[in-house]
Amino acid sequence: MIITFKINGEIKTQEIKSSLLLIDLIRDVLRLKGTKPGCLEGECGACSVIVNGAAINSCMYLAINVDGKEVTTIEGLGNNENPLHQVQEKMLENGAVQCGFCTSGMVMTTKAYSDKCIAEGITPTREEVKKSLEGNLCRCTGYAKIIDAAEAVYKK
Ligand code: FES
Ligand code: FES
Repeated sequence: MIITFKINGEIKTQEIKSSLLLIDLIRDVLRLKGTKPGCLEGECGACSVIVNGAAINSCMYLAINVDGKEVTTIEGLGNNENPLHQVQEKMLENGAVQCGFCTSGMVMTTKAYSDKCIAEGITPTREEVKKSLEGNLCRCTGYAKIIDAAEAVYKK
């Protein structure tokens, strides 16, 4: 079947099998390798991307479901050519990255949550920030610096 969607600001029309997972569309078809395959069972959040403003696990999401929608991956935020997004900056400033395997998922989840909080005029508590990241696992850092970074997004 043929789907049309926007990814990182660019409109794409793509022929896909109805069984194709979004993570495979992103990594294997579109060759965007920043979205990471971890557990592939919806448990680790390494594959998190944003679809129409909400963070989702792309390993548990059929690619056909992005038809007519807007997808953002880590490549759609800051990179070597474009300024880093605030969430990426806070991750760096707070030393929240070790091996980096979980980082794109952490950034995408934090971006979706912070966009929602900012739109609603909410400053979340540290506990709420922690809860927002409960679907994202990190095998390296012990989480404190990641939570510090996510919390710092709300500090002026
Ligand atoms: S790879 Fe998707 S949740 Fe772990
Ligand atoms: S920094 Fe290594 S898994 Fe999180």
